[in-house]
Amino acid sequence: MSNSSPHWWRTAVIYQIYIRSFADGNGDGIGDIAGIRSRLPYLAELGVDAIWITPWYVSPMADGGYDVADFRAIAPEFGTLAEGEEMIAEAHQLGLRVILDIVPNHTSDQHAWFKEALAADPDSPERARYWFRPGHGPDGAFPPNDWRSVFGGPAWNRLLDEEGVPEDWYLHLFAPEQPDLNWSNPEVRREFEDILRFWFDRGVDGFRIDVAHGMDKHPALPDIGWDDEELLAEPELADHPHWDRDGVHEIYRSWRAVAESYAGTPEGARVFVAEAWVRTEANRLARYLRPDELHTAFNFDFLKRGWDAAQMRASIDHTLGSLSEVGAPPTWVLSNHDVIRHVTRYGRAAADIAKPAGTVPVDLELGRARARAATLLMLSLPGGAYVYQGEELGLAEVEDLPIASLQDPIWERSGNKHRGRDGCRVPLPWSGEGPALGFGDAQPWLPQPTEWKEFSVQAQTGDPNSVLSLYREALSVRRSLPELSGLSGPRETEAELVWRDSDADVLMFDRGSSFRCVVNLGQEPVELPAGAEVLLASAPLPDGKLPTDTSVWLRLSS
Ligand code: GLC
Ligand code: CA
Repeated sequence: MSNSSPHWWRTAVIYQIYIRSFADGNGDGIGDIAGIRSRLPYLAELGVDAIWITPWYVSPMADGGYDVADFRAIAPEFGTLAEGEEMIAEAHQLGLRVILDIVPNHTSDQHAWFKEALAADPDSPERARYWFRPGHGPDGAFPPNDWRSVFGGPAWNRLLDEEGVPEDWYLHLFAPEQPDLNWSNPEVRREFEDILRFWFDRGVDGFRIDVAHGMDKHPALPDIGWDDEELLAEPELADHPHWDRDGVHEIYRSWRAVAESYAGTPEGARVFVAEAWVRTEANRLARYLRPDELHTAFNFDFLKRGWDAAQMRASIDHTLGSLSEVGAPPTWVLSNHDVIRHVTRYGRAAADIAKPAGTVPVDLELGRARARAATLLMLSLPGGAYVYQGEELGLAEVEDLPIASLQDPIWERSGNKHRGRDGCRVPLPWSGEGPALGFGDAQPWLPQPTEWKEFSVQAQTGDPNSVLSLYREALSVRRSLPELSGLSGPRETEAELVWRDSDADVLMFDRGSSFRCVVNLGQEPVELPAGAEVLLASAPLPDGKLPTDTSVWLRLSS
């Protein structure tokens, strides 16, 4: 293993594999473990430290695998447990750590527990693993409370008994096929600790925790009192009945103990990254990262900021300040499988940045220039970073997928109002050939734009100006600089970020005595310090100046 430091996760660059769309090894149009195995050398060469694989468990795929029917088995369309184990070993041989995705807030409605619950009585222990409640009003015709599903509509579904007579309702904060588990039930807690061990015993280095802010519910299930429907919105209530409640922390303290119990194994203690959409200003994220809880969390505040120097600087400062209080390293992320790809976001007018896919104009050339600049910014900030598959190719959101191809439950649940997240999940282009641009030998499960031929790995390899070359070089320079990677010894070698005076629309900071990053988010070219050596730039530097929407990494002369 290339980075055997117990602190590897503090500065790791982690590549997110959306398994369905990464590479198809058996020609059925769906990405799989065989596909991942065939591309592990590509990832090692790219220069990332770890991979995070989105859920690969047995699932009816009502929500892209985030509806898990069996947490200890791999979906046949993705492969077998034996293949998964071989993949983990092969990744380790190439120096890549492996992180899986755990989905503890809910199961699939096809999970054995939920089937048992449906067959059991209202007051049974089987139903006590979930949230079943009688409805309100005459005949219980109204949901037990006013909670909304983040995919649209009420968060409750009503059961029918065998004769078709309506009975109790069950809670689902996401799709109806994703019933919420009751985490106040000790059996649920035991089960998940056992699932963690099942995968840790197979060499998995850590878990990304899905909806890490959702497991604890107010026991009385009170009304929220307003329409709380925006997908992945930060909860605005301080005492929200189901988001970011204090009770989640006790769960993570016991998970941390499980992870630490692996300290003596070849992979060392295992790690966690939280997917927690919480209130930034109230510093809620740091609470998940206290020393006896989780290791890291996605920094969605940074992802949500527009291409604006003041906005980005405020986010960076807030992140560094709040996390240093608990000793946790920050992480940086620009894209993932739930949000609009950042080439597209940054190509929009500032006011449109958060609008749904396909609803506002976009300048992709502008977006690509900014995305390149954002990459050098992200990879030179303290802590770790996430790369979402395809961003290293400069892929944009596919905003015009044919309606008939849409798979995200958001499309149906929103009453065909929102297209959903399929546009960032289109299968990767690996080469110019075949029915799937090298993704596999069959039509992929979502159609790829024809222009993606120009964006394939093959087309970009060897082109010094390609986005792929920029990522390869940036990751290689980052790894070679102890100030950035902290790799040459104990973690103390990672240098703090120190801002340097600059124009308001420029970000300029040093890491250590000789590394500097400058990002020009303004309109005018910026002079660079005399005598500095250019390590890497996101675009050419005419007359030695830094043009608009460009970043540069410098080695300062001593
Ligand atoms: C997380 C996942 C998202 C999924 C949801 C429900 O937000 O990232 O893809 O739909 O949880 O599990
Ligand atoms: Ca396949």
